Amino acid sequence: MAPEATVSHPLDPATSEELLAAVDQLRNTGHLSERAFFSFGHRVEPTRSELGTHTTGVAVDRTIRLVGHDGAQGKSFEALVSLAPSAAEPVALEWIDQGQAPIGMVDVIAIYGALYEDAAWLAALARRGIDDPAKVHIEPWLAGINPPEMPTGRVFRALGFLHEDASTNHYSRPIGGLVAFVNADTGEVQVNDLEVIPIPDDPAEYAADQMGEMRSDLRPLEITQPEGPSFSVDGHRIEWQKWGMRISVDPIEGLVLHEVSYRDGDRDRPILHRAALSDMVVPYGDPSVLHYWKHAFDAGETSLGQLGNSLKLGCDCLGEIHYFDATFLGADGVPGVTENAVCLHEEDFGILWKHTNSFQPESAPEVRRSRRLVVSMIHTIGNYEYGFYWYFYLDGTIQLETKLTGIIGVSPFDGTETDTSPLVAPQITSPIHQHLFCFRLDFTLDGPNNSVVESNVTAAEDGLHPYGAGFRAVATPLLTESQARRDIEPAASRTWSITNPNSLNQLGKPVAYKLLPQASPHFMVPPDTPAGRRGGFARHNLWVTRNDESEHSAGAGAFTNLHPGEVGLPAYSAADRSIDNTDIVVWHTFGVTHVPRPEDWPVMPVEYAGFTLIANGFFDANPSLDVPPSASACH
Ligand code: CO
Repeated sequence: MAPEATVSHPLDPATSEELLAAVDQLRNTGHLSERAFFSFGHRVEPTRSELGTHTTGVAVDRTIRLVGHDGAQGKSFEALVSLAPSAAEPVALEWIDQGQAPIGMVDVIAIYGALYEDAAWLAALARRGIDDPAKVHIEPWLAGINPPEMPTGRVFRALGFLHEDASTNHYSRPIGGLVAFVNADTGEVQVNDLEVIPIPDDPAEYAADQMGEMRSDLRPLEITQPEGPSFSVDGHRIEWQKWGMRISVDPIEGLVLHEVSYRDGDRDRPILHRAALSDMVVPYGDPSVLHYWKHAFDAGETSLGQLGNSLKLGCDCLGEIHYFDATFLGADGVPGVTENAVCLHEEDFGILWKHTNSFQPESAPEVRRSRRLVVSMIHTIGNYEYGFYWYFYLDGTIQLETKLTGIIGVSPFDGTETDTSPLVAPQITSPIHQHLFCFRLDFTLDGPNNSVVESNVTAAEDGLHPYGAGFRAVATPLLTESQARRDIEPAASRTWSITNPNSLNQLGKPVAYKLLPQASPHFMVPPDTPAGRRGGFARHNLWVTRNDESEHSAGAGAFTNLHPGEVGLPAYSAADRSIDNTDIVVWHTFGVTHVPRPEDWPVMPVEYAGFTLIANGFFDANPSLDVPPSASACH
């Protein structure tokens, strides 16, 4: 039975009722065994044409996508379930041959259960003086590829950390020389018990109640907005200071922005049709046994999107907050709600612009405060936290910032420090690794047909001008998908402008938004490696593809786990289609190489990475001249 239509807009996320109805329909086919579990469920997003024909307030018939794994069959599945009452074949079920569904709690419980009963695991712990297996936190890891020891099956790797109980730091006392493979479907275990390395003694606690005396001179800093915030929210639609957008939360991608527009005079001008994280990869560069195989594709392998925190006022966000809850499908097919998963608030951001008229000293300077709308989520994946913050500014600027924090991956120090894994504490080393994020930016700048132009700034050629004047911004249109595989070049101030050749500004030039990349490292993993084959999207900072709604993921998407790779962006762009004045998608990969430092221990202060989109001839002049001076007088 189709659920009561409670959905008001096709871009709204799936409701609990919709997910339950889809699970029921799938189960009723009889194709799943009792051991089948769900990794996630979400609504299939409407196409642009479906969106275009939608009438406000009219319920929509939706298709729910259910992904999971059936332990009895040893295979993952993907089902598309139509909730339309008239659907002739409401369930399309596909068993997956390449890759497997993301890791979930069912796998974690299976891994714990298998290791607790495995004589080799218990013997390896005893060899290290540990008699009680409950004193070991088992950290499951994606295997990346099936290791030679277990060439087939739903295999995970597992590492151990000594800890007193669940309240303590789980990651400060790593057990060296011990890696287990566990087939979560069959319970089969293979323990690699190598050299015994002393387990670090220091529990390295960080919780406030363990810290003893804390600084006492931090006085309250409160954000008050006595008249309330300047944004308004209607369902999942947000309006703020000429900006309009919708949001949803995807179980893989996390926060998704839809239909981002800016009101210019009496026009709501579209900028982004959709923007979200598509994929990410965290390769570890330490060849030692605890780490060389680690390359976390946290979005597709661990369904990062549904690991969102329930955010707390005054801790995660300050000020007048609006929270959005997020509904996720549990492994048992029962939906659950993460309350306060998305935080919406405003922040003061210093000055927006200023000028002092020095020739009229008695006049007040013209100065405007900058303010930004913040839409954010924070996800916890095992030892690590990722925050994703979208910022919208009064002058049309859009910014994406990732915040990296949590507990770094570590090894016990074996007495020899290497340059791949620096010491961060007397008994702890931490491997050098990268965090590379690929965002999918479906632009619709004044309409769906857009182009991309690269700009490189060059100096005057030798001898051209006696003073060396002649800095030139050299514009190069990127016309095909192969031409649009580009890398950053900070020394040339390289940027990429997304333009609309069909919409001209008052200067007669195509309106544009400029992608300002940060200085990012190259993906350091060679192509012909497990991470290299799956992380092709990280090989370039920019990709532009012709929009094809089936080309949604930069990599292997929901089946990245154990996927052989060679899919996603490199494959899409191999078609080498024209990207000139057509419906295009811009993909931007950026990130950091993390060389751990003592100050990252035992919990890491936030590190940042991101990018900025600024208007570049989209408006005819500074669009923030109408921002009034602050209500409270400056003095
Ligand atoms: Co890091």
